Amino acid sequence: MNKRIYLDNAGTTPMAPEVIDTMTEMMKNVFGNASATNYYGREAKNILETSRYTIAQSINAKDSEIIFTSGGTESDNTAIMQTAMLRQTEGKHIISTKIEHEAVLKPLKRLEKMGFEVTYLDVDEKGQINLEDLKKAIRPDTILVTIMTINNEVGSVQPIKEIGEIVAESNAWFHTDAVQAYGEIPLDVEEMKIDLLSTSAHKLNGPKLIGFLYERDGIDLPSYLQGGDQELKRRAGTENVPAIAGFAKAAELHSNDAIEKNREKYLSFKKALVEGLKENGIDFEINGNLEENMAPQVINIWFKGIKSDVLLTNLDLDGIVGAAGSACTAGSLNPSHVLVAMFGADNPRVYESLRFSFSIENTMDDIHQLVETLTKIITRLKNR
Ligand SMILES: Cc1ncc(COP(=O)(O)O)c(C=O)c1O
Repeated sequence: MNKRIYLDNAGTTPMAPEVIDTMTEMMKNVFGNASATNYYGREAKNILETSRYTIAQSINAKDSEIIFTSGGTESDNTAIMQTAMLRQTEGKHIISTKIEHEAVLKPLKRLEKMGFEVTYLDVDEKGQINLEDLKKAIRPDTILVTIMTINNEVGSVQPIKEIGEIVAESNAWFHTDAVQAYGEIPLDVEEMKIDLLSTSAHKLNGPKLIGFLYERDGIDLPSYLQGGDQELKRRAGTENVPAIAGFAKAAELHSNDAIEKNREKYLSFKKALVEGLKENGIDFEINGNLEENMAPQVINIWFKGIKSDVLLTNLDLDGIVGAAGSACTAGSLNPSHVLVAMFGADNPRVYESLRFSFSIENTMDDIHQLVETLTKIITRLKNR
């Protein structure tokens, strides 16, 4: 078998060696509780605050606006549930989209059961919301608009700056799940008028179970977890300083300069993949499109007539890891809610699409091997 190739980086990424080195150093030498006033605590606090500064700078935020959390899920849950709890006397209406991650959709479902009303915006075949729909949906009692920056399955990028401007005119706060976007496209909370923003380190070659919630100064959401006064009383629980330092290192490795270089590299991967498949006569279409309003690191492809679970398993046997939005339960395919929102439940695309997502470790050789392997498998499956 050829060397194994990992192309499921939107699922999670391998940790960068620099991140591992930073964390190892911290785990060996910095064990103090950052809330303690003793020497060891002060040492940990120093690392914590230096990391916070690095992270805050990366999105043009103030240090006081960064709350470290256990990752994307906690940041999304906190932003949504705690906004609802804090603002419920002002209104009970929330706006979101049909293509959000479960870490947004599930808290919204819970709030609906509690008497809140949620408007889920449609998306078009490119995975884009319509700004006019958003404008029409906003009401005086809308307290929160939560719209993801980059979709994790197809990679569509929403017009965050325009959304921020629209929401800023209303009474609502604007939260964006930027878990797939942070470190892949430049984000500026001031320019984009974002009030709350969620991230997760393991999507950008950092450790798992660490992320942050950006919370605009003055918002002051109560801690979702009940306990100590850490993170300026906004997130109870002793901070994991080595993981936070690792996250800051990962953020440094994904500076805006690096983002630009990676974007070029990933675009050349996508072009090589598409051209290679075309040359080999494979029948496919991109879900979304190649470049415009698309995440650099994600491509989702409809392989016509080939069930996604079959293709995925065959690829895995040949050493290549991709992903399908649809999960196979007891022999039947559950189509992805994202592809259904884009194309409708009856479209074969929802059962026949795969996602490939890149990270800093991938090379053009990986893409050549992907083209070759896909061609071999698809030709074999078609000729069965
Ligand atoms: C868009 C999006 N939001 C939230 C999450 C959850 O993040 P975490 O795994 O850090 O809890 C993910 C992870 O897959 C994601 O892709």
